Amino acid sequence: MKSLIRLLTISAFAAFMFTACEGPMGPAGKDGANGTNGKDGLNGQDANSFCVKCHNTANWTAKEAQYQLSKHFTGNTSARNTKYCARCHTSDGFQEITAQNKYVVSNDIPNAVRITCKTCHQHSVFDFAEDTMAQILRTTTPIPLNYNGNTTTTDFGPINNLCATCHQIRGVTSVNWTDSLGVIKTFNQLPFFPFNKAGQDDKADVKFQVGVNFSVHDGNQSNLFTGINAYEYAGVNYVRTWKHSANDCIDCHMNEYNATTKRGGHSLWPNEEACAACHGGDKITPTQALIDAKRIELAELLTTRKVFKKTTSTAGVVSYSAVPSHDFYGTLFPTTETTTKFATALASNPTVSPTTGLVIPGNKVTMAVDKDFATRIGRPWKYGEMGAAYNYGYINSELSMGVHNPVYALKVLQSSIDWLKAN
Ligand code: HEC
Ligand code: HEC
Ligand code: HEC
Ligand code: HEC
Ligand code: HEC
Ligand code: HEC
Repeated sequence: MKSLIRLLTISAFAAFMFTACEGPMGPAGKDGANGTNGKDGLNGQDANSFCVKCHNTANWTAKEAQYQLSKHFTGNTSARNTKYCARCHTSDGFQEITAQNKYVVSNDIPNAVRITCKTCHQHSVFDFAEDTMAQILRTTTPIPLNYNGNTTTTDFGPINNLCATCHQIRGVTSVNWTDSLGVIKTFNQLPFFPFNKAGQDDKADVKFQVGVNFSVHDGNQSNLFTGINAYEYAGVNYVRTWKHSANDCIDCHMNEYNATTKRGGHSLWPNEEACAACHGGDKITPTQALIDAKRIELAELLTTRKVFKKTTSTAGVVSYSAVPSHDFYGTLFPTTETTTKFATALASNPTVSPTTGLVIPGNKVTMAVDKDFATRIGRPWKYGEMGAAYNYGYINSELSMGVHNPVYALKVLQSSIDWLKAN
């Protein structure tokens, strides 16, 4: 490569000479080095054939067509360009945090570009001898997680690190709230991840206050796949690995493209027909059915003890949500009707600044009579209950419904169920 650059420099200089030089001709130069030097680092090929392996029209057109099938491209959440979302939901945000090694972008990015080729791709060096694919990816380094106190990095493996920079637990979404008197204060309880509490006593009390959030968001695939960061009960042995633990995300999500089903390759949807080569049949549906049944069993147990509330929509869709035991200021909700006002909600009303055009997050405490008294638990939660509620979300919002690690997923759900039954 060095010699290629040198050649370019020499010809630029020569062009300059032809236009500007009026002086006498110099002595004849030495013969140039032969072209083989240009092959250094390109696995013995010249730059033309080496670069063109990727940079040819057919390949590029195919990649673009496949990518347009991906939710990265079709999904509507690339519009999430505000400060706490842009790092994962826009190309600009991702480039900013990876280039500057930070967790949150410096501000909203109103005209951000959605996730594109250049989000994932960037050439590092051109001496491709070592790991060709890693050298065309924007990042492959271990990740400082968005939670975890932001101090340690986790290594999911080179290409997985690219995906897991976004496909991880979300972390902070806002920093300020406004109390009922209009005073702006800083959150100290958001988000709250029970798995962070090392040596926690499962039976200890914990308030689940209005405004506390333990949502992992839809992107926690890297955690389940690796078998980490669920709430783990004392004395239970968790197995973290399964048959596909040694695989990379792309072994399934960028497997061979199938033009008929339009899955595989840069569509990022796994081509399931290619799985059948080993499996001979569908492993996904039965795995998901098994985990889903356990998920519902856990949710029903949590509903019975009033940690969760069950809602059925008019269309018949069942959902479960956690019911706070305490109001925003930490006062226990009673289980019978009263006229006392409580800090029942933390309403999010962001506004847009007329001068800067940036979003000003707004979280305002609502004081009201509590109408949900019938579904309140009437006591602090136990840590084990908080863990079980968190574990429900850990599986439910992960989107693969256990396929990313059926062994760990099952244990996480079963150990929650066992603890609730025993306590
Ligand atoms: C392994 C595949 C691969 C090889 C080999 C490869 N590239 Fe690339 N190249 C990419 C990808 C992927 C991108 C990013 C796509 C984009 O910019 O939209 C890219 C981007 C580029 C860009 C930036 C284009 C732009 O619009 O910003 C240049 C310039 C480039 N490559 C030159 C080269 C040269 C020169 C070589 C050979 C020495 C080479 N590439 C070899 C895959 C490859
Ligand atoms: C810049 C952050 C980011 C990176 C890097 C990233 N993703 Fe995503 N991914 C997202 C977001 C955001 C969505 C959801 C898009 C939507 O709904 O608008 C998504 C959606 C997906 C989906 C849903 C289905 C589909 O076809 O898109 C899969 C699968 C996926 N990503 C896999 C991967 C893999 C594998 C990698 C690594 C090679 C990766 N992602 C890298 C942010 C990212
Ligand atoms: C750490 C990275 C990360 C951050 C930060 C993040 N998200 Fe996401 N989000 C993802 C990933 C990854 C997915 C894609 C999962 C999928 O659809 O496959 C996703 C999915 C979503 C979805 C659902 C998409 C769908 O198609 O179902 C919504 C809505 C969403 N995010 C909103 C937000 C908002 C609002 C913020 C900021 C407050 C935010 N996200 C911050 C990574 C992130
Ligand atoms: C979500 C991240 C992501 C996005 C977005 C993405 N790629 Fe890739 N791309 C990858 C990964 C990971 C690999 C390595 C695949 C492997 O090792 O099999 C790759 C490989 C490639 C290659 C080299 C392999 C080959 O078959 O030629 C090219 C070229 C390429 N991508 C082009 C593109 C183009 C063009 C786009 C936009 C239309 C794009 N990529 C968007 C992640 C991404
Ligand atoms: C053993 C194969 C396999 C591996 C390895 C794998 N996945 Fe998946 N993944 C799947 C399957 C199968 C689904 C379910 C797809 C479906 O329902 O269509 C899925 C679902 C997803 C989804 C949800 C898509 C949606 O929006 O419905 C995302 C995002 C995702 N995977 C990302 C990842 C990431 C990131 C990694 C690496 C940490 C990874 N996957 C590793 C097989 C795999
Ligand atoms: C190279 C062979 C191979 C390929 C390809 C492969 N698998 Fe597997 N997979 C296995 C083996 C072996 C097991 C262990 C269980 C067994 O023996 O059936 C397994 C187990 C699983 C399991 C756990 C099921 C259970 O009952 O324990 C799931 C889920 C799974 N694979 C999904 C996938 C998906 C999705 C793909 C395609 C994207 C895929 N696999 C491709 C070899 C493979």
